[in-house]
Amino acid sequence: MANKPDHHHSSRRLILVLYLISVLGIGFVAASLLVSSSKFSFSGVWVPPEIQTTNFDSRIVLKKGKQLNDSKDDHVRLLSSSATFADLPAPELEWEQMQSAPVPRLDGYSVQINNLLYVFSGYASLDYVHSHVDVFDFTDNKWCERFDTPKDMANSHLGIVTDGRYVYVVSGQYGPQCRGPTSRSFVLDSVTKTWLEFPSLPAPRYAPATQIWRGRLHVMGGSKENRNGVAFDHWSIAVKDGKALDEWREEVPIPRGGPHRACVVANDKLFVIGGQEGDFMAKPNSPIFKCSRRREIFNGEVYMMDKEMKWKMLPPMPKNNSHIESAWIIVNNSIVIVGGTTDWHPVTKRLVLVGEIFRFQLDTLAWSVIGRLPYRVKTTLAGFWNGYLYFTSGQRDRGPDNPQPGKVIGEMWRTKLKF
Ligand SMILES: *[C@@H]1O[C@H](CO)[C@@H](O)[C@H](O)[C@H]1NC(C)=O
Ligand SMILES: *[C@@H]1O[C@H](CO)[C@@H](O)[C@H](O)[C@H]1NC(C)=O
Ligand SMILES: *[C@@H]1O[C@H](CO)[C@@H](O)[C@H](O)[C@H]1NC(C)=O
Repeated sequence: MANKPDHHHSSRRLILVLYLISVLGIGFVAASLLVSSSKFSFSGVWVPPEIQTTNFDSRIVLKKGKQLNDSKDDHVRLLSSSATFADLPAPELEWEQMQSAPVPRLDGYSVQINNLLYVFSGYASLDYVHSHVDVFDFTDNKWCERFDTPKDMANSHLGIVTDGRYVYVVSGQYGPQCRGPTSRSFVLDSVTKTWLEFPSLPAPRYAPATQIWRGRLHVMGGSKENRNGVAFDHWSIAVKDGKALDEWREEVPIPRGGPHRACVVANDKLFVIGGQEGDFMAKPNSPIFKCSRRREIFNGEVYMMDKEMKWKMLPPMPKNNSHIESAWIIVNNSIVIVGGTTDWHPVTKRLVLVGEIFRFQLDTLAWSVIGRLPYRVKTTLAGFWNGYLYFTSGQRDRGPDNPQPGKVIGEMWRTKLKF
């Protein structure tokens, strides 16, 4: 039985194609083993640089189980799914690098009181969390002071807000890796640098949205005790001069829960912006509460509550954005938000950081992109002084063409802001 010559030809071609598929397949399996042994199974909020995998070219990483078709269209489609797909067009700004913070921090928090930026706690690495405050003075652009936080205060995922003198720190994660949260809450008197006791939140939360509005401290959303579960609860307590005047009471739950959102009060209204549902959680039975990845869904939604005490939705951010708790300022009736983290890369399934500066005009309720940071960065801490927008700290990208999380930084930068 003899095959026709063109059958011979096509079966040789088939063998060649199968060979190419298996070579690619082995390469991919090897790559994904490398990835799962370091990045995916290890990585919590941050992968220490020494165990990070080398830069992956997203254009040639295929989703597990998918086969590369011998078709031109697929190649074109894969090659064009660039790592930078999520970047939005933005005006260029001129940046000036300032003195770096004394320590790098991820998931740090900040408040600005007049000319001082108070920078709280955060991770130095997944295995080490800070328990101190560093202070930056905008008048001479120097880090000028450092003092400790209370022994029982959370180290990351704080709810934080200031009334201009007292800084309320509500719940958060206590310890490194993906350890549990505390409901313990404290108040810093920034004038005397003393810490005061404050009533514990009714339940522990990770990174709840926190603000002072109409004389009450409001705390809403965040993640529940297991770090991943979405909390919708909304509590408030009357406050004055660093003290509670009554007890925590329930308020209208927020329609979308979750941690890592910007929470802002402006024009007598309470705004909750962006964030996510779900987060890394501790591996069951891990003695060090090793972080392991779970489902996370990002959003760019904007919720607003006014004196009617009802939640209303306003136009969403230009893209989904999370890890922006201290990454905002208010200037000239606009909220300005810098950096963050957005939806997973559709092909590489890696986290994608955000490098844009967004402006939300409180009069027109319109969002725009007003500039780009020197790099993409999440959990960055923003301030505004004398016409300059400042940001410091967080976790930056791996370079202009690689938006996935890289180094934890303490760098500080500023740019002149003009709408
Ligand atoms: C290969 O082709 C099949 C059938 O046309 C399609 O379902 C599949 O998604 C393609 N694979 C890739 C990697 O695009
Ligand atoms: C943004 O978030 C929404 C809600 O979580 C989601 O439905 C949507 O797919 C996200 N956008 C992108 C581009 O993934
Ligand atoms: C805010 O308004 C003042 C007064 O009009 C102006 O001088 C300043 O440049 C504005 N700030 C920004 C960021 O545009």
